[in-house]
Amino acid sequence: MKSILITGGAGFIGSHLVRLFVNKYPNYKIINLDKLTYAGNLANLKDIEDKPNYEFVKADIVDEDTIMAIFDAYRFDGVIHLAAESHVDRSISNPKEFIMTNIVGTVNLLNAARSIWKDDFNGKKFYHISTDEVYGSLGDEGKFLETTPYDPRSPYSASKASSDHLVRAYNHTFGLPVVISNCSNNYGPFQFPEKLIPLCINNIRHGRPLPVYGSGTNVRDWLYVEDHAKAIDLIFHEGKMGDTYNIGGSNEWANLDLVKKLCEIMDHKMGKHPGTSEQLITFVKDRAGHDFRYAIDSSKLQNELGWKPEVKFAEGFEKTVEWYLSNKAWLDDVTTGNYTKYYEGMYKNR
Ligand code: NAD
Ligand code: DAU
Repeated sequence: MKSILITGGAGFIGSHLVRLFVNKYPNYKIINLDKLTYAGNLANLKDIEDKPNYEFVKADIVDEDTIMAIFDAYRFDGVIHLAAESHVDRSISNPKEFIMTNIVGTVNLLNAARSIWKDDFNGKKFYHISTDEVYGSLGDEGKFLETTPYDPRSPYSASKASSDHLVRAYNHTFGLPVVISNCSNNYGPFQFPEKLIPLCINNIRHGRPLPVYGSGTNVRDWLYVEDHAKAIDLIFHEGKMGDTYNIGGSNEWANLDLVKKLCEIMDHKMGKHPGTSEQLITFVKDRAGHDFRYAIDSSKLQNELGWKPEVKFAEGFEKTVEWYLSNKAWLDDVTTGNYTKYYEGMYKNR
């Protein structure tokens, strides 16, 4: 039985990936290693937690000794590394945590993989999950290619860029078998409601303002989270060692248009008059250093490995809204406690 480590498996994308792997590969033992920060939630994995090929290990990737001991004990055949601090706004208010988890944590995992695999890399793979934000910000035209030079502009994207470089350096210097993918914005169930879409869904539910940064013209390329998980599965199994793959939805939306579309769906689902939720839209102070536009060219992944997004945006967006409305207890649970304090601090001066 192969043993596969997935880090950050209690988070948004990680939980979808763990579910996919546990259900699809009964002959793999899936070990989900997660610190359970505010963004990690084992309730995301309730449906698979009792499966015999699944195990949860609570650990902090910054804790070098613990990580080394876990690798020693489990002798993983493969690693898929998603654990990270992932919210740009938090990286602006507290950059150091991003440096620790995203950079130091990644180096600890690379060192631990090197240490147990020694120089016998046959059948082994270290897969690092990254973001399109490492490429910087686009104007009105063009898309990010795998060859686009790195130009990270927030502490979050700089920490992710740094970890990408380190992963490549371990491949070049030590021959560690690595693969990297850089994905655009994900949406779907189980996303923490600090991110634009679930934040707005939750605020509409409570009749709170919908904070749109600046003039709402910034553009993001949205991909349904299960399509990302399927791309990760494909790249993990068939990606070329040492290569990078871009993953994206080819689905660009200006933030204001996206929020208006969401308001329309929410009005319909909540039985409100068309136009009711739109009245909650409130323009607030822009994010510092706000990247204007991201857009991914995923033709390498499509042409070489045959991936393409399966979920059409209209379908995925509606499914997402329905999920949050049918899982209000989940939303209420994660929006109490510390998150409430963060939210109040974050939007107080905007
Ligand atoms: P998330 O914030 O929802 O989840 C992150 C998970 O990592 C949480 O479960 C958290 O508890 C865990 N974690 C954080 N610090 C840790 C530490 N020190 N040790 C162990 N576990 C720790 O993030 P997400 O949106 O699911 O993103 C997952 C990965 O995908 C990240 O690497 C992110 O950079 C990347 N990514 C995200 C998106 C997106 O749109 N969300 C797009 C492209 C790439
Ligand atoms: O592009 C991939 C990245 O997408 C991932 O690497 C990150 O982990 C993920 O958080 C996401 O980053 P963004 O900053 O693009 O996502 P966020 O949901 O925070 O914001 C989306 C857009 O909406 C962005 O232009 C900022 C804007 N925004 C966000 C919030 C939270 C608002 O206008 N108002 C808000 O309240």
